[in-house]
Amino acid sequence: MGIQVSGLNKSYGEHQVLHEISFECNKGDTLVLLGPSGAGKSSLLRILNLLEQGQSGVLKIAGQQFNFCGPISEKQGLALRSKVGMVFQQYNLWPHLSVLNNLLEAPVRVLGLCKKQATEQAMAILETLHLSDKAQAWPLQLSGGQQQRVAIARALMMKPEVLLFDEPTAALDPAITNQVVQIINELSETGITQIVVTHEVEFAKKIASHLLYMEHGRIIEQGCRRTFQSPKTQAFAQYLTH
Ligand SMILES: Nc1ncnc2c1ncn2[C@@H]1O[C@H](COP(=O)(O)OP(=O)(O)OP(=O)(O)O)[C@@H](O)[C@H]1O
Ligand SMILES: [Mg+2]
Repeated sequence: MGIQVSGLNKSYGEHQVLHEISFECNKGDTLVLLGPSGAGKSSLLRILNLLEQGQSGVLKIAGQQFNFCGPISEKQGLALRSKVGMVFQQYNLWPHLSVLNNLLEAPVRVLGLCKKQATEQAMAILETLHLSDKAQAWPLQLSGGQQQRVAIARALMMKPEVLLFDEPTAALDPAITNQVVQIINELSETGITQIVVTHEVEFAKKIASHLLYMEHGRIIEQGCRRTFQSPKTQAFAQYLTH
């Protein structure tokens, strides 16, 4: 069971930003979402974990189904977000909490995990992301790349079925970007489904099992990773030359 979106429409006031979006993504896939600024990529990502809702359409994700024609409660959104994690460009770490406490906050408060168990889990995740020695550091004492890895570690604490990334490497240099490539590729081997918004085509090629290209709120092209080599539309071919 992966992700299925059908007939999704989204407007902000009079402005329709997503038009009849339909796509599927299998469990364990890494779907890269590409497109020019304003195409609606972040809007789509926020709808996938119910940070926002569409006006119509159906979303199936993490074993649940939501119909945007009917009401969806804040409680349903909160419950879904414990299974569908999000990593942002601007890490969004809590500056007043140590790295370890950034990781403990949600699982202890939301999932009700005991602190000892959560700490063991946090240390194991920090170890796999080569951050063990930073557990007691403050976020602002870390480099951008380290902060981004902490943000990924924090999302992993919830044992998400799906992980959404919005331009995770936009603020990172190429070497650090390659660390994120490695993390995403290792996570895909664990069966986690990932959707990654990016403007960086080279980064996208290194992680994608599938891709989706959008313009003006519409899907222009979608396919497996081979689509990078053989785009079917002029628009996507053009985008790849940038
Ligand atoms: N909260 C909001 N209120 C009103 N309009 C919004 C809101 N969020 C996004 N929009 C509009 O929706 C459209 C799509 O924006 P979105 O942020 O999804 O694009 P994007 O593809 O993520 O762009 P970028 O690559 O620049 O991040 C834009 O025209 C934007 O102005
Ligand atoms: Mg965006």
